[in-house]
Amino acid sequence: MAALLAAAFGAVALTGAPVPPSAQQSAPQSAPQSAPQAAAGPGGWIRPAGAPPTVFAHRGASSAAPENTLVSDEVARRAGAEWIEDDVQPSKDGVPYVLHDDTVDRTTDGTGRIRDLTAAQLDALDAGSWFAPAYAGTRLPTLAAQLEDLRTRGGKLLLEIKGPHTRDEVARIVREVRDHGMTDRVFVQSFEVDALRHARELAPELPLGLLRSTLDADPVATAHELGLAAYNPSDEALSARPGAVRDLHAAGVAVNVWTVDRPARWKALADAGVDGIITNRPAELAGWNAAWSPPGTAG
Ligand code: G3P
Ligand code: CA
Repeated sequence: MAALLAAAFGAVALTGAPVPPSAQQSAPQSAPQSAPQAAAGPGGWIRPAGAPPTVFAHRGASSAAPENTLVSDEVARRAGAEWIEDDVQPSKDGVPYVLHDDTVDRTTDGTGRIRDLTAAQLDALDAGSWFAPAYAGTRLPTLAAQLEDLRTRGGKLLLEIKGPHTRDEVARIVREVRDHGMTDRVFVQSFEVDALRHARELAPELPLGLLRSTLDADPVATAHELGLAAYNPSDEALSARPGAVRDLHAAGVAVNVWTVDRPARWKALADAGVDGIITNRPAELAGWNAAWSPPGTAG
């Protein structure tokens, strides 16, 4: 991991500084925290007044390390991301793995649909070389490995259930989260309404977010119907009707927007009151947040 981290931080062009040798030797025990943070509970995921938007590292620090891997998560953690967003899908034999695409072709040295490959086949893949030679040997993480990594190193997980899932497949995800004692550090999101319904029934303690590429006619009604803690639209979708943030907040529902990498949009979204920003550039957004001032104050 240390060599991979050195490669990763060398690739974070905007931070510039290499990882000091001491940091390469030991992992942090807890994620950096930026206060104040939203707390769980009805309306509790809404950003407190004066706080900057929560940083969600999209697929980990995916601009600096291979997406959806433990090294990508570690780079995001060290960069100051409070939350890491990753995607989960089952193998042929039902083991949840962290992968975005429905095939392994783009992000590993293998080929085929993840649902057609066994855990043993997935464990043999190299999930780092495609990004850069320095990451050769990086493995495709199981959800269990990722949860254990987060539990011991720190950080919270925005876990996207990617693609249609049966009730049993969602139950397996829930079991992994519970077995690792991570229910208070995981937020589930999905484009898949059925997956969210299964998660709500199986694990009412887990907060839920609905991903949308276009806004519902009545996002509040949708949020109530699905029991959402957050409504998570694309930047483009929210741009069409930014007033939806006010309506959702009035209903106690947070709004987290994806996938936003431009500071001009960070500013517009922060001013619009969104609660979190999902970005491929968590280091930069964390730094931008540190310098951010609420509208109307000196910055
Ligand atoms: O977290 C939102 C975002 O991840 C949804 O899009 O395709 O990157 O999973 P995608
Ligand atoms: Ca995702």
